Amino acid sequence: MKLVWFLLFTLVLVSCKKGEIQPYAKPYELDEPSHFPKMAIPLDNLLTEQGVELGRRLFYDKRLSGDNSMSCAACHSPQSSFSDGNQFSIGIDGLAGTRQSMALVNLGYQKFFFWDGRAKSLEEQILEPVPNPIEMHQSWKDAINKLKTDDSYRKEFHAAFGADDMDEYQVVKAIAQFLRTMISGSSKYDVIYKNSNGLNLSPKEQVLFSTVTNEEKAGYDLFLSLNGGDCVHCHSGPLMQLNIFANNGLDATFSDKGKGGVTGKPQDMGMFKVPTLRNIAQSAPYMHDGRFQTLDEVIEHYSSGIVMSPTISPSIEFASQGGVQLDAFEKGLIKKFLLTLTDEEFLENPKFAPPN
Ligand code: HEC
Ligand code: HEC
Repeated sequence: MKLVWFLLFTLVLVSCKKGEIQPYAKPYELDEPSHFPKMAIPLDNLLTEQGVELGRRLFYDKRLSGDNSMSCAACHSPQSSFSDGNQFSIGIDGLAGTRQSMALVNLGYQKFFFWDGRAKSLEEQILEPVPNPIEMHQSWKDAINKLKTDDSYRKEFHAAFGADDMDEYQVVKAIAQFLRTMISGSSKYDVIYKNSNGLNLSPKEQVLFSTVTNEEKAGYDLFLSLNGGDCVHCHSGPLMQLNIFANNGLDATFSDKGKGGVTGKPQDMGMFKVPTLRNIAQSAPYMHDGRFQTLDEVIEHYSSGIVMSPTISPSIEFASQGGVQLDAFEKGLIKKFLLTLTDEEFLENPKFAPPN
């Protein structure tokens, strides 16, 4: 018994140490919507005012790319819900990848990253774009050397992490802190969701709820209904996505194997991360390969364009008949509902915009 207590005690000590922040850094008060789960923040990268602000600066800094022409925001711009409008993102050498840029929304609540889920943490994810030859194409060593020539950065890194020297792990940690603050939870959908789950609306939310139309409500019912859109098995809850992979019937054979390309397992072929539908009107084109330009095309896919394959999700109803077969009126209602996911407060939040 004593041994157990001793072990517990050491565990607590160790985790406290890991969770420490710089004495001169100020803890960042994360404003989490009341209907959201609690964000799991890694103990070795707690949010601080200094870390978040440094992360924002780095996110918009073109010096992270080989020819100083491209920041993270080049492919993740605020107007596009931190995604980009190209089918495939183009890096500094004009080379295009094979995937569409992903919207950066509520990432602190997610468990894996990239369309194929190959990164298990945000920190791991952010290490990739800088050296990636089809993205920012610059070694971390060169990137850090450039940042070091800027005295203001030296000060800010010191304030955030207390270290005398800068390195890529600090860059990654700071950007991850910034991304964790990018929470979208004040759309019309949020008040619809809260109301239908019996949660209290604040006075401001009540005003927003009074603007919800009957068509938007009917669209939500269809979105949820098994005989209607049946979208809710994958896109639901406050995040409008489950933390899962799925094959939503895009192709019969897979030029991009998705998760299967990472694990090599037959049962994972053609499976992709279920993306959030938040701010979906802003983040066209759609799907991992940006094949659909409009929400109408996406809805038509689920209605009549489903293609069978060995790994197709059992949650795609009526897959063998090509989809749920919605009529024009129903398609219109689902689209109206999808537009309620636009969160102006998030898109226009000055805290997420480029620093002055
Ligand atoms: C050249 C365009 C480009 C640049 C520059 C770029 N990204 Fe991305 N980003 C993408 C693409 C494309 C994907 C999806 C790639 C994939 O799945 O293989 C992605 C995926 C992501 C994801 C995963 C999101 C999710 O939901 O899983 C994060 C986070 C991210 N990028 C952050 C960043 C950060 C931070 C930077 C700067 C250090 C950056 N990106 C620079 C194009 C870019
Ligand atoms: C079986 C799970 C599943 C169901 C059910 C489902 N989806 Fe999806 N959805 C996905 C996956 C997985 C993707 C990404 C697929 C890809 O890119 O290969 C996706 C992508 C999307 C996208 C594009 C998002 C983006 O950022 O590119 C939209 C919009 C969308 N779904 C809407 C819907 C609607 C509307 C319904 C109901 C009619 C629905 N989904 C039903 C799994 C599902």
